[in-house]
Amino acid sequence: TFSDDHQLVLDLIEDIPDFPKPGVVFKDITPLLASPKGLRAAINALVALAPPDIDVVVGMEARGFILAAPVALELGAGFVPVRKPGKLPGELYSEQFSLEYGHETLTVKTDAVLPGARVLVIDDVLATGGTVGATAALVHRLGADLVHVAVLMELGFLPGREKLAELGIHNYSAVV
Ligand code: PRP
Repeated sequence: TFSDDHQLVLDLIEDIPDFPKPGVVFKDITPLLASPKGLRAAINALVALAPPDIDVVVGMEARGFILAAPVALELGAGFVPVRKPGKLPGELYSEQFSLEYGHETLTVKTDAVLPGARVLVIDDVLATGGTVGATAALVHRLGADLVHVAVLMELGFLPGREKLAELGIHNYSAVV
């Protein structure tokens, strides 16, 4: 059932204190990914949050890729990677943002998505919202329709959800 999936996802994400630097509690999804039942529960729970008629699922390097591609497959949609600098060839759009622990730039190929395509953005964790915010800006620059943003886990003690609301992203949900 949905609540069993929900509980399994919660149970299999491990809190790692002081990683990657002191004061940060890292959410480690590797135990979840390594579990056949956990991985299935995570993908099912994300698929359940998806609106109908998604054309493309966008995932962010690196942990977003692991979840976004199987969700795309389940939905019969395509997958588009949003990547860190220096990884994608050709003409790119870039968006810079601040992260919980540092600064980052994300890029996407300018022809990655057809204008007007219905896009679902998938990531593992929403922390400050910087990654999702930059990705939403990239989807906007592609001329695509950002229909929904779904993450596996949100960190309630960080203002990620408020940040997304400020950016006008209201079509957002988290599994746990
Ligand atoms: C982590 C995580 C999210 C992002 C969330 O990625 O996978 O993408 O941070 O943080 P935010 O809401 O504050 O932006 P990270 O940059 O550590 O990269 P990785 O996926 O390559 O490990």
